[in-house]
Amino acid sequence: MEDIVSLCKRRGFVIQSSELYGGYGGFYDYGHLGVEVKRNIKDHWWRTFVQSRDDVVGLDSSIIANPKIWESSGHVGGFSDPMVDCKETKLRFRADQVFWSPVVVDGNIVTYVSVHEDSPESMKKEGKKMAKKLLKEMDMKGADYDDFSFKDLTEATEEEMSKIPSPATGTPTLTMPRDFNLMFETSVGAQTDSASKGYLRPETAQGIFVNFKNVQGPARMKVPFGIAQIGKAFRNEITPRNFIFRSREFEQMEIEYFIQPGEGWADSHKAWLSDSKDFLLSLGLRPSLLGWDVHEGDGLAHYANACTDVTFRFPFGVSELMGIAARGDYDLQAHTAGSGKSLEYFDESTKEKYVPHVIEPSLGVDRVFLAIMCSAYAEDEVGGEKRNFLKFHPRVAPVKAAVLPLVKNKEELVGVARELYDKLKMRWNVDFDTGGAIGRRYRRQDEVGTPFCITVDFDTIEKEGKEVTVRFRDTTEQIKMCIDDVPAFLSKEVDG
Ligand code: GAP
Repeated sequence: MEDIVSLCKRRGFVIQSSELYGGYGGFYDYGHLGVEVKRNIKDHWWRTFVQSRDDVVGLDSSIIANPKIWESSGHVGGFSDPMVDCKETKLRFRADQVFWSPVVVDGNIVTYVSVHEDSPESMKKEGKKMAKKLLKEMDMKGADYDDFSFKDLTEATEEEMSKIPSPATGTPTLTMPRDFNLMFETSVGAQTDSASKGYLRPETAQGIFVNFKNVQGPARMKVPFGIAQIGKAFRNEITPRNFIFRSREFEQMEIEYFIQPGEGWADSHKAWLSDSKDFLLSLGLRPSLLGWDVHEGDGLAHYANACTDVTFRFPFGVSELMGIAARGDYDLQAHTAGSGKSLEYFDESTKEKYVPHVIEPSLGVDRVFLAIMCSAYAEDEVGGEKRNFLKFHPRVAPVKAAVLPLVKNKEELVGVARELYDKLKMRWNVDFDTGGAIGRRYRRQDEVGTPFCITVDFDTIEKEGKEVTVRFRDTTEQIKMCIDDVPAFLSKEVDG
């Protein structure tokens, strides 16, 4: 993970926000290449799910909205995580992300360990480190203890809590868990009193629900249909972790797909699982790193019929990439009750009135960005030398092609190359590089994941075929093609 974080900064993908002032926990900036990848992800999502479908339309709702929305949706009352404080350091932890275990020697609990949840492997490793230190302090160096039996801090009794060491200090200095609401508060208008209290939205979904009628009517949509939105969301995460995986400001791409009440939800949910997986694969995510996590029992919200997460094997462990939930009519009913206004739909074909149910596929832009970086990160050997490169799918690559004049001191050759570059840049983000030996220029492009290098050489200007050399990043294979065919080639590879 450290390699990816440092590459992201070095090459201009992602930078810690406010770095000049020492950073700001949980906030990130996207650099000149990161912003291109992010746009490519969002554009591809919008093209796939909105523009190329007849049954989905878009929306862009405000980030700050009437606080009554968040009361009705249940966010004011219940959008919270259990939090514990380290009394000594004042650091705060998410109680359900800190795991503890007794250390049992010869059948007796001699002490406790606590670790952050990242992956089962890292928990065990960190736990062993803490146990070793604690046993040494207790003059029990090298004592043989049973395997850990980890539980999270929400499952500790008050007595256990008084003995569990804080992950920050290694001594028992933790409060009992209490609820911490994740919504960022702000005040709206010139007065700052309780009436001016507003919130930054913690998800884009509610903007869709409250506009159900405003979109359905003018767009003349008939159930089943969806409303899609891409936008920023904000959560005051207690412990933002793992780089852009869990941050405090992030972007979501969400669809509320409205369906008729009844048994049909299961088929619709299945179809959205399949479409979502196809979309993730079309971004170039490695299939072997993707998985499913079906929520059941306690893991399922009380109002939901089903929820399945698509998971991704990140370097810190397998975690949720996106969620696809069948939410029933919970949200539209909640806003009907809260606003006192009907959100019923009149179905002309059956002459029935009903409140539609929804299927909600929800994907974080930043989280899928991280998955793409992890999937693309590659190493091999070229000409006996180690090569680090980014194996982006051409559709998400920040630079689609680099135009390279073989030499920089031949005016006609450079002119032809520049002409090609000027033509391509009208459609794609492309690069023009004259600096250094051609091998070095190839390597520079490999490092930022440019899928194609197009070299203009003497053949291009002197021979009838006007051939350029196109080099493929992943295989380093080179082919010749007429300079006039380059736009069609790129169109097929990048947009096809
Ligand atoms: N409307 C449903 C909803 O918001 P969620 O599981 O809380 O559900 C959906 O969030 C997706 O948004 C997640 O699967 C993840 O991709 C992204 N996401 C949620 N919290 C995030 C955070 N703190 N940082 C980055 N992405 C986040």
